[in-house]
Amino acid sequence: MAAAEVVPDWQYFPDAAAVAAAATALILSAADAALRARGEFRLVLAGGTTPNKVYRQLAASPAEWSHWQIYFGDERCLPAADPGRNSTMAAATWLDHVGIPQKNVHSIPAELGAQAAAQRYAPLVAAARPFDMVLLGMGEDGHTASLFPGHAHPAGEQVHAVSAAPKPPPERVSLSREALSDSHDVLILITGTGKREAVQRWRASEDLPIAHITAHDHLRVLIDREAGDTAISTA
Ligand code: 6PG
Repeated sequence: MAAAEVVPDWQYFPDAAAVAAAATALILSAADAALRARGEFRLVLAGGTTPNKVYRQLAASPAEWSHWQIYFGDERCLPAADPGRNSTMAAATWLDHVGIPQKNVHSIPAELGAQAAAQRYAPLVAAARPFDMVLLGMGEDGHTASLFPGHAHPAGEQVHAVSAAPKPPPERVSLSREALSDSHDVLILITGTGKREAVQRWRASEDLPIAHITAHDHLRVLIDREAGDTAISTA
């Protein structure tokens, strides 16, 4: 199902801690709504370092964890327990500390290599769509998940195999932009001065991977002062 176009809701915060607090509240609220409506909460996790503050706050939060279903927006093709994997980082900061059943944590088998992992993960993604919430970060070149500038995006693609990523490791697996957008809510977390240029390019309507992400209900961009404009909303 193609995602309806929604206008990004840019919300500015003083610092990364405020972004993380707001994101945590939005995630817990979306989970409550999904559990009431559908009995489970299908959440796609962001990789990289920006979400770590959020994951640590979730680890300290009360929630009906047994009804959460966890997917990954992308994964680095590293050995299964490698500390550099997004799944390992999420487990260390959050998933290993709450009562989400292991069977509900759907890791990408990226240790198999990008093509094999993409083929294995695609049916699981197809069965899980639409997601309730997708968390994303953004790189300094405007990439998101492991969707980098210049990639082709075949219609109907569920999972994208990457062989020459400019951000190491070169081999990665990513949900497609279509799959990442097939969600009730999308939350994009951007902090730090390193992201400022990409934010300005995005807002100038440049054709960046992040700019192709949409959602069905809400597309929110939570950004701190260092990465964004100087205006700080009262949101
Ligand atoms: C990854 C991520 C990637 C990340 C951005 C931002 O595997 O690296 O999926 O898309 O979200 O590069 O990374 P930081 O949050 O570390 O700045």
